[in-house]
Amino acid sequence: MDWGLQNRLSRIINPKTNRTVMLAVDHGYFQGPTTGLQQPGKTIKPLIPYADSLMLTRGVLRACIDPGTEIPIVLRVSGGTSILKELSNEGLTTCVEEAIRLNVAAITLSIFVGGEYERQTLLALGQLVDEGNKYGIPVLAVTAVGREMARDARYLGLACRIAAEIGAHFVKTYYCEDFEKIVEGCPVPLVIAGGKKLPEREALEMAYNAVSRGASGVDMGRNIFQSDHPVGMIKAVRAIVQKNASVEEAYKIYDDAKDKKTATV
Ligand code: 5RP
Repeated sequence: MDWGLQNRLSRIINPKTNRTVMLAVDHGYFQGPTTGLQQPGKTIKPLIPYADSLMLTRGVLRACIDPGTEIPIVLRVSGGTSILKELSNEGLTTCVEEAIRLNVAAITLSIFVGGEYERQTLLALGQLVDEGNKYGIPVLAVTAVGREMARDARYLGLACRIAAEIGAHFVKTYYCEDFEKIVEGCPVPLVIAGGKKLPEREALEMAYNAVSRGASGVDMGRNIFQSDHPVGMIKAVRAIVQKNASVEEAYKIYDDAKDKKTATV
């Protein structure tokens, strides 16, 4: 792999642990002002010290993130649809030159395997990998799941493998039963999305199970920023991913942080 590309990837996935805690805050690109992200700058700022990278769009990056911040940026460059329309009809919204100007560590787009516009999103992935390779910028493919698709190992394994075959440097998918089969069939690092907000202990269990079964970490959004204590939650997730903490140890980190907050209110 090209030195620059590997160097950028190493800023996201820590080479000492081969793990990463990515904070996903790109939801507004098709959902608008998502719960917890109505004021993205306010939500994101206290979480930055505990994240290995931030996944977001150029609009929120420019408007809400201090350019003096050192955190590596994973820039979402796909979009073009909203929750009001067919979600798989995505295209590229941001060019690679813009990503370079913004000094990002990686670029990302969604693919919709099995979706109405599957082909269009897979060809966009190929185009983005070609562009990324030209400038040494790794590409993260997100396996978006349409409402009609089952989130099982057979489907997600198919989507992850296709993403890797087209050239994605790392892939984001969902955790499911038999997750190790997805890992086995995907020759590049995998991170998991958190999905819909779960009770904190369940979200921590999911992170624990994912890394125990071969994930390189998480790219988590709602289960962190919609928590009643987002800082406690990201610290807990970080303990699991980067320090191999147990679910109990991690839950205590979250719970202690919550208790402290309650005590000072
Ligand atoms: C949307 C995305 C989001 O970043 C992703 O869903 C991660 O966030 P969450 O943990 O809230 O699911 O890529 O396509």
